[in-house]
Amino acid sequence: MSGSLLLGIDIGTTGTRTIAVGLDGRAAASAVAEYPLSTPQPRWSEQNPADWWRASVATIRKVLEAVPASAVRAVGLSGQMHGLVLLDDRGDVLRPAILWNDQRTARECEEITRRVGEAALVAETCNPVLTGFTAGKIAWVRRHERRVLDRARMMLLPKDYLRFRLTGAFATDVSDASGTSLLNVPQRAWSRTMLDALGLDEDRLPRVFESARITGVVTTAVAAETGLIAGTPVVGGGGDQAAGAVGAGIVRPGAVSVSLGTSGVVFAHSAHPQVDPRLRTHTFCHAVPGAWHVMGVMLSAGGSLRWWRDGFCESERGQADRDGAAAYDLIAREASRIPPGSDGLIFLPYLTGERTPHADPYARGAFVGATLRHGRKHFARAVFEGVAFGLKDSLEILKAMNVPAGEIRLTGGGARSPLWRQILADVFNQSVTPVAADEGPAFGAALLAGVGCGAFASVEQACDAAVRLGSPVTPQRDAAQAYDEAYARYSRLYPALRDVFPRS
Ligand code: XUL
Repeated sequence: MSGSLLLGIDIGTTGTRTIAVGLDGRAAASAVAEYPLSTPQPRWSEQNPADWWRASVATIRKVLEAVPASAVRAVGLSGQMHGLVLLDDRGDVLRPAILWNDQRTARECEEITRRVGEAALVAETCNPVLTGFTAGKIAWVRRHERRVLDRARMMLLPKDYLRFRLTGAFATDVSDASGTSLLNVPQRAWSRTMLDALGLDEDRLPRVFESARITGVVTTAVAAETGLIAGTPVVGGGGDQAAGAVGAGIVRPGAVSVSLGTSGVVFAHSAHPQVDPRLRTHTFCHAVPGAWHVMGVMLSAGGSLRWWRDGFCESERGQADRDGAAAYDLIAREASRIPPGSDGLIFLPYLTGERTPHADPYARGAFVGATLRHGRKHFARAVFEGVAFGLKDSLEILKAMNVPAGEIRLTGGGARSPLWRQILADVFNQSVTPVAADEGPAFGAALLAGVGCGAFASVEQACDAAVRLGSPVTPQRDAAQAYDEAYARYSRLYPALRDVFPRS
């Protein structure tokens, strides 16, 4: 199929983004549609896959109002990782999807770890079994909703559910499959050991592809519903972190990306499956064939600021509604009046538990160090700073693993905030460079589509042709010094508070 555009679709946690990208990396059109997240019980997090489909159809149609479907050469998919979608034998969804930031599976994860043994687990999957990952969710459904699991003919990740709706194919890609605890990460194939430990047959899992391989084509029925042309190829794509890293050009050793979405991630390319001896970071397959990546994941990065905005900033939200401004900008403006270090107030960003550096589903958020002098602006600034400290934790681990991090590229919604960029440069005491016209994982997915359909010779070549960077933000000496001291105190807070966080 000829054509000059690539479509990327990202099933995010707050919404779905679809973009059409030219072969020079310029976005020709983009659309976003949001959907809710439900928390039926504390520490649970679920979404309805039907909402993802509705948002995908709406955004594809919107993009195709701006560009002709005949110009779309291939489609790439990306999405929030780790979520569990269960389908019956007719392809119908059996229960709401259990998401990456759901923390209900501590018991199941311990059981799987005991059954397999930590050494075998790490040899097979390169990671511990964490509550966010998919395997524990399968075990939880088996324990609590046995009949649902018995009826489950297929288990899919969020973006692979979209693929199924678009093409009818059951397929996934190596980067997303890495986050299930069911993939042999060094071998890039499902792990017999893990499947046996969970009592799962491989035919209930999708086929695993490299990220830029074609996995199916748009069906005639979907063509009628979306406006896409039947037969348009759909490539494997990637988990949102690997696809986002492709979109930021993190496809060779040297540069790392820091992404500020709901979660916050520090991501580095790795030529081999390199594992942190203390298992604080994740080691997964990269969307680049023959490459892996190491990443530190904090669960509430942009999510912390959203929590602050929604729970404590009614006046800013009201003003934003009246003036057509963004409440986040108003919050940042107030926070910028407070000096670096928030006069000693520190925020721990563990609002949904944490993964890196403390894999603890029971960790909680905290503000520590308040005095009569502190007001709302201080608390706002402390939120920006606490997230930056959490990201620095991951950077420090990568450095200790000798992963080169000479250049830091910033992506994600939070990276649009000039205040947050400066705080990150100061806390890291290193320049940070925003990715220009950042369209996030949907952009990386579109580039992978370009490789799959032969528009680019390799993922690296796609990035060379299409990824552009903004101007670097450099650290300020005084602020960096203040943050050095604040970070030292921040680092001592989790160990000091761990025992007072409720274990339920
Ligand atoms: C990565 C992770 C999150 C989700 C949602 O391991 O859990 O980044 O992919 O964005």
